[in-house]
Amino acid sequence: MIELRHVTKIYPNATKGLNDINLTIQEGEFVAIVGLSGAGKSTLLRSINRLHDISEGEIIINGHSITKAKGQKLRLIRRNIGMIFQSFNLVKRSSVIRNVLAGRVGYHSTLRTLTGRFPKLDIELAFEALSRVNIAEKAYSRADELSGGQQQRVAIARVLAQEAKIILADEPVASLDPLTTKQVMDDLKKINLELGITTIVNLHFIDLARTYATRIIGLRAGEVVFDGPVSEATDERFAEIYGRPLGQDELLDEAVV
Ligand SMILES: Nc1ncnc2c1ncn2[C@@H]1O[C@H](COP(=O)(O)OP(=O)(O)O)[C@@H](O)[C@H]1O
Ligand SMILES: [Mg+2]
Repeated sequence: MIELRHVTKIYPNATKGLNDINLTIQEGEFVAIVGLSGAGKSTLLRSINRLHDISEGEIIINGHSITKAKGQKLRLIRRNIGMIFQSFNLVKRSSVIRNVLAGRVGYHSTLRTLTGRFPKLDIELAFEALSRVNIAEKAYSRADELSGGQQQRVAIARVLAQEAKIILADEPVASLDPLTTKQVMDDLKKINLELGITTIVNLHFIDLARTYATRIIGLRAGEVVFDGPVSEATDERFAEIYGRPLGQDELLDEAVV
């Protein structure tokens, strides 16, 4: 479903974000990408939906090259890919339901979107999505009145309303407390299992990756240094690869950056 062929990403300042990545991810997989800060996790996710253009290689989504796609074709490929960010990326002053409906804009003309009037079917889809993450009762609250965990669930509902076939989540729980982290990860896992949505999640913490993923990919300096099932992703193996267990100081590093 997602194939990366010899993908290299060099930033304008000559930093190599990714170096010759080759990966195939099958439909329905739940993949965790792990690695220290600066390993290339965000660059990888952003390359998959072409928030970043890659420098070399090609990325194929469901048989279509997103690398070469332009215009309408690019829009159609992207419509199938939902993105979830650490910072939720909601329109704070808008209602929850409006934020979820934003997932539908790829299906309508710009004009229709500007008027803010969505078809009944879209509104039904949006409520269904909110119910799936258990916050339908917040539909008419302002997004910024919700807790962090609730806001992240709105972001998940938005990609559900988008009817995305692939979810890319970049450190979705990095700003949440442990209880909320569990709720959000449980939601991601649930929709992966119930709807078969292929899910790729960047995570700092190896134990979270082991709890939720079926496959773990370790990055270091833009290269794949581990790719295997959870059973092989032992503490010993990771200490060997990274020189120390993953997920102890990384959040601190991020905060300092
Ligand atoms: N916009 C950018 N311009 C230049 N270098 C960047 C940019 N974004 C990321 N990098 C660099 O690319 C490498 C990978 O970064 P990133 O993908 O953000 O890592 P991670 O998400 O694993 O912390 C790092 O060396 C980082 O400094
Ligand atoms: Mg990152």
